[in-house]
Order: sequence, then structure tokens, then C-alpha cells
Amino acid sequence: MSRIVYVNGDYLPEEDAKISVFDRGFLFADGVYEVTSVLDGKLIDFEGHAARLTRSLDELDMPHPISHEALLEVHRKLVADNGIVEGLVYLQITRGAPGDRDFAFPNPEETTPTVVLFTQNKPGLASNVNPVKVISIDDIRWGRRDIKTVQLLYPSMAKMAAKAAGCDDAWLVEDGKVTEGTSNNAYIVKNGKIITRELSTDILHGITRAAVLRFAAEAQMEVEERSFTIAEAQEADEAFFTSASAFVMPVVEIDGAKLNGGKPGPVAARLREIYLEESLKSAI
Ligand code: PDD
Repeated sequence: MSRIVYVNGDYLPEEDAKISVFDRGFLFADGVYEVTSVLDGKLIDFEGHAARLTRSLDELDMPHPISHEALLEVHRKLVADNGIVEGLVYLQITRGAPGDRDFAFPNPEETTPTVVLFTQNKPGLASNVNPVKVISIDDIRWGRRDIKTVQLLYPSMAKMAAKAAGCDDAWLVEDGKVTEGTSNNAYIVKNGKIITRELSTDILHGITRAAVLRFAAEAQMEVEERSFTIAEAQEADEAFFTSASAFVMPVVEIDGAKLNGGKPGPVAARLREIYLEESLKSAI
């Protein structure tokens, strides 16, 4: 069955949805996105994703083409129309299609942003835990990783390098320190303390990260926000990553070094449990 997707105000079967060849998202990666998870047919942390979207648009001087209320309504309608119980809603906003290719931004009075949303059905999203092996790779992305842009070529290349090495994902390293994963925030645990890189323009300010750190503090778990090296990670008691599409996922191997005997650790397991329980309570 084909999906119903949303394009600029219309709900369409996916095969009928069309975007201009001049769309700046297509030509310049001039667009931002969000991925919101769905559990029990409800949106997890919609407010967090909506707030980060606003910030991404502002940082790029892009007009806000859709109100907060309308955005929520589109998310909910797509979840309902596509019968999503567990899955994801992908949202992308680009600077639009000015009708030609030009490096300069178009006049926002004349070119309106393109808004696209679609769902991804992922049965078992909450129950599937697939412990992950990571490789490390140089982080050569641009310097504004706090803006959630659709410039994802390098993370895709890093993912392919991980697969070629028989692993699942890559942790990106800059100036000797781990920034984040290809599409997730990275953590290690040492002597019960959860360590993750501090927020800056070097990493995406993960919505799952914010929730997990809040829940960890509420559960009296110790958290330290600082960067760490791959060598330190390999010596850690356990490691994990967070994202809207994987929640809290254990990392059991880093550049060939096994953590916790190659088995998921208890801190990641506990955090995943708390995260799922707590975020379902506030899902909308
Ligand atoms: N990725 N860091 C990067 C580079 C990411 O792309 C993501 C999310 C995260 C985690 O952010 P959040 O917890 O808000 O999902 C961190 C999404 C899921 C994706 O690209 O599919």
C-alpha cells in the first residue's frame, strides 16, 4: 500500500508527490529536517523537535512556512492516515524553488519554502535492541552541526565505511575527541558516570539527549558533559548512543575493542527503559 505524504499543503499518495528540479533542497542542500518517533500511535517529544526546527530555520534565515499548530496537525494526520503505531515522521523544509539555479538566496517574498512530511512504518521500534559496533572516522563535516540541515553526504559515507568494516555505525572524531555518531549522540559510562560531549556548534543538540540527561539526573545517575577520546571510550565500562530513531542503543565494540565483554551494559538498558516509559507518558 502506498503512503500518504504531505507536500506544501496537500496530502497525496507518495507516487503523486512532486518537487521542482529547482528546489534549493535538491540543488544546494538548503534545507532543514526533523525526525520524530511514534510509539503507540503517538508523537514522542513533538515540542522538542518543533522547537529545534524553529531554531534551525532562524539560524539559516529561512522563513517559517507553517505554524506550530498546523505542523502538529500534519504530523497527527499522517500518523493516522498511514496507520502508524510504531515508526517515524520525517519532516523537511527547504528554502523553496526560485525557478532557476542561483547561489544567492531568493527573495522570501517571492519564493516560499517547500514543506514535505512522510511517515516510516517501523514495527518493533520500541522492543528492538540491536547492540552496535562502531568504527571511528575523521569528522570533516561543516562547522554548524547544531543546525539540522539535510547535508548528510558525509554521514552517509561514514556509515558506508562502517559497513565496509563489518560494523554498524561510525563515531566521528575531531581534534582527537568524539563529536557524535553519524546520526546520533555518543556516550560512555565509567564507574557509573555517564559521559557525553557538551553542547556547542560541534554537535546536534539531540532531543533524545536532552530527555535522557534529564531522566538520568532524576534517577540520581551521575552525568558529566565533556568530550572524550576513542581510547577512553575503549576503556569505558559501557557505551551507547541516543537518537529519535533508536532511543538509547548500546554500543558493544569500538574500533575492534569489546566493551563489557561485547554485551550491552546495565546503564544503557536502564536508560532505555526509563526513556521509553517516561516519554510515552508525555506522548501526544
Ligand atoms: N538523526 N546527531 C546527529 C548528527 C543526528 O543526525 C541526530 C538525529 C542526532 C540525535 O538527535 P535526536 O535525538 O534529536 O534524534 C544527533 C536523525 C534521527 C536522523 O537523521 O535520522
